[in-house]
This record gives sequence, structure tokens and C-alpha cells, in this order.
Amino acid sequence: MAKTVTRFVCQECGTVLPKWMGQCDVCNEWNSVVEEVLEKHNSQTNVPPDFFKTIDISNDSVKNLQWYRHTTSINELNRVLGGGFVEGSVVLVGGSPGIGKSTLLLQMFLKKIKEIGKYVYVSAEESINQVSMRAKRLGLSDSSREILLASSSNIEQIISSIENLFGKTIVIIDSIQTISTNLIHSPPGTISQVRYCTQELVNIAKKNNIIIVIVGHITKDGAIAGPKTLEHMVDCVLYFEGDRSYDYRILRCSKNRYGPTDEIGVFSMTGVGLEEVPNPSSVFLSDQKESMVSGVAVFAGIEGTRPILSEIQALVSHTSIPMPRRSSIGFDSNRLSMLVAVLSNRCRINFGNKDVYLNVAGGLKIQEPAIDLAVASSIISAYLQKPLPSSSVFFGEISLSGEIRQSHLAYSRIKEAEKLGFSKIYCSKKTEISGDSKIIGIGSVREIASMVKNSD
Ligand code: TYD
Ligand code: MG
Repeated sequence: MAKTVTRFVCQECGTVLPKWMGQCDVCNEWNSVVEEVLEKHNSQTNVPPDFFKTIDISNDSVKNLQWYRHTTSINELNRVLGGGFVEGSVVLVGGSPGIGKSTLLLQMFLKKIKEIGKYVYVSAEESINQVSMRAKRLGLSDSSREILLASSSNIEQIISSIENLFGKTIVIIDSIQTISTNLIHSPPGTISQVRYCTQELVNIAKKNNIIIVIVGHITKDGAIAGPKTLEHMVDCVLYFEGDRSYDYRILRCSKNRYGPTDEIGVFSMTGVGLEEVPNPSSVFLSDQKESMVSGVAVFAGIEGTRPILSEIQALVSHTSIPMPRRSSIGFDSNRLSMLVAVLSNRCRINFGNKDVYLNVAGGLKIQEPAIDLAVASSIISAYLQKPLPSSSVFFGEISLSGEIRQSHLAYSRIKEAEKLGFSKIYCSKKTEISGDSKIIGIGSVREIASMVKNSD
């Protein structure tokens, strides 16, 4: 007979504690410890005789091994996955509610994925009718593709149904926070439930060599709900993000055991589902290229291997409070404070009684340091209330000495800017691309300040 064991688990950090406590010993979170009852079965461990296998790495059969990838019909998704879904892998897709996770994963079935025979969609959130209506709306009815739909929230049922499927299969579980096991007496979505169900799914994916895509909700601070260990358990973690007030969505990879993690996929949400955006620069730039507004600079950035142009907006306003504000959206606010300090020190601009606000238009979040020059230029332009030269783009990292440093993939940035019709490209003067009259080399922030001061 199964034995029951009671334990106390912190829902924030996953620590198992000996008794109930008002505050977790490890993460110091209040009211996060919950009692859980586990059923334990006595099981004997049988170790197969060929548990360890001897492999000769120099052997040709090993050299020729490679990930077996299945490319989908959605190029932006393939790009983020590093080429497609790898057989036997588990992919976690996180995102806030209503961002379009279910839509994206359902749309994936629109065209046949090479060699995949069975498409399984397990929805614990919506009924079969709701999913089929959505599939119809997305045009899946035209694709004459059969999808196996299930509406279940019981992991044992799900696992045994998956085990009975034969052939190459892709399974979507929507979502991990709504499925549960009978073995743990705590509600779905709690740490133990999420961790147990994910482990079961990972085991079956590896055992049967099938692809499992798990949908996960995110908490208000942007992490996938549940412990961080969830991210360690799966092979690939994708975040679907975007501002609900805009139509476009960004798919970002934060972990990938089979490919790079710096690629992004850009989509736009339309009345008939998600559409790919092959040329994202057009989305993030305002139509007004010949901007006559002060404080606006265009940044030639790189996301993964792809150049993306975006608009940086700055506002410098007078304040009488002793600690002026440095506030930013889409850019690290510590770096903003640093750049303001570099500008006040190296260009002799007094920001002592000025609030500085910075915004990356369109809700994009930029982390690469090459954005510094665009940020500094927009701040100087906002401070002097003079627009930057028309049709100009900027990229380059700024050091504490105020010097403009080189950025990687400069050639791709320049090509993208030229393609979109920009005629003045401001970058580090060390950028090794000569003979292009559109490139204007800048040595230090002081040069940018005098350029803006002297522009008409
Ligand atoms: P959904 O995929 O249900 O989001 P999630 O699974 O991440 O919670 O997407 C729901 C949102 O997408 C909803 O606000 C409506 C919008 N939407 C469209 O605009 N067009 C469409 O064709 C579909 C299917 C959804
Ligand atoms: Mg959903």
C-alpha cells in the first residue's frame, strides 16, 4: 500500500522545510510555506547490465551524429529555436496571459512539419470546442491536417495517452500551471505540482523521442511561474513578450541546449492570428524619418545576427527636487545614470537640476552597449532642444572617458541603415569601413555635443 508523507515546501524557492513556518528560512519570504502530502510507493531499482555504454568519440559513427531537427512553417520560430525543434527535446514557452502563446503554438500546425506524423494539443485551460473554433479561425481547416485534441488536466492521463502514440509526434501542453498529479495533494500551479509534472513530461520526451512544448505563465516580475528549477529541467526556454498596447510580439530565447540564445523572432498580432515580421526595423521606427523633434535618435542595433533599427527618445526637463530623476523604459537605468555622468563630466553639461527620461520606442528592450551613442545623442539633443541631423543613425559604446568604442557587426548595421534610406551613419571612428561617404566617425562624446550645437 502507498505510504503518505507530509512535508512543508516554500512556494517561492522550493525549499523543503521540517515544519511549518511563517517565513521561509532560505528566501525570507513571508507566508510562502505550504503543507504538501506525498504518496510514496516502495519500488525496487533494477539496473540494466548495459547501464554504462562505451563510446569512442573519434569513431566515425559518433562524428556523424547530429541533432535531428524538424523545421516548422514559421520562419521566425525556427530562427529562435536555432533551426527547428530537436527530436526528444522539451521546450518551455513563457509569456503573460493573452500575449498569444496558444495562438502561436496552434498556428505551428498550419503547415506540415517535415516527417512529423502526429500533432497533439492538450489544453487544460480551454475546452475542445474552444480550441477547434480557434483553429478554424486561424485557417487550420484549410490545411487538412489532423490534430489530436485533448482537454485534460491530469498528468497521468496525459502521459499514458502520449505513450500509446506511435511515430514522430509533437505534443503541446497548455499550460503547465493547470495540470496536476493525484500523488501530490496540493492545488495545480504549486511548486511541487509544476515540478513533478514537468519532470514526467521530460522523462517521456526523452524515452519516446518526441517533442514536447510546454506553455508556462509568468509572474508579475516576468519570470516563468514556479521555481527556477523548471527552466533547468527543460532543453529550451522561450519568452513571448510584447506590449499589449502594440500589435507586435517578440519571441526571445533565454536558454537553448541545441542552438544560440540571442536570436529573436518578431510577429504581429492580426485579426487572423500571428503574422511574421521579416523586416522588424520597419515596425520599430516611426514613419517620420526626417524627424524635426529634439531628443529623438535612431539606433542601429543587432538582435542575434539580425540588424534592427529602433527609435530612442529622451526628455530633459527642469526640476527643483534635490535628487533629479533618471528614468528609463527599455534601457538599463544604471547605464542611463552612468551616461548622464559621462556627459556632464566630459561635455560640461549641467544635469544637476534636470530630470532625464529615456524611452526605447515600441516597447523594445535593448541590452547591447552599442546603444550608448544613440542614447547620449538623444539626451544632448533634448538638453539643447535641437533636433539631430535628419536621416541619421547612431551606434557605438561609450567608455567612462567619453570615448566612442567599436561595436561588433558594424557592417550589418550600416547596410541595414542604408537599406532603409539613412544617409548619415554616426559610429566610432575606429570602425574599419572606409570609402563610404555616409559613415561619420566620432571619437568622443564631446564631438557629438559640438555637432549638435553647430547643426542648423
Ligand atoms: P492567446 O493565444 O489566447 O494568448 P495566451 O495563450 O498567451 O494567453 O491570445 C489571445 C489574444 O490574442 C487575445 O487578446 C486575442 C488575440 N487574438 C487576435 O488578436 N487575433 C487572433 O486571431 C487570435 C486567435 C487572438
Ligand atoms: Mg493560452
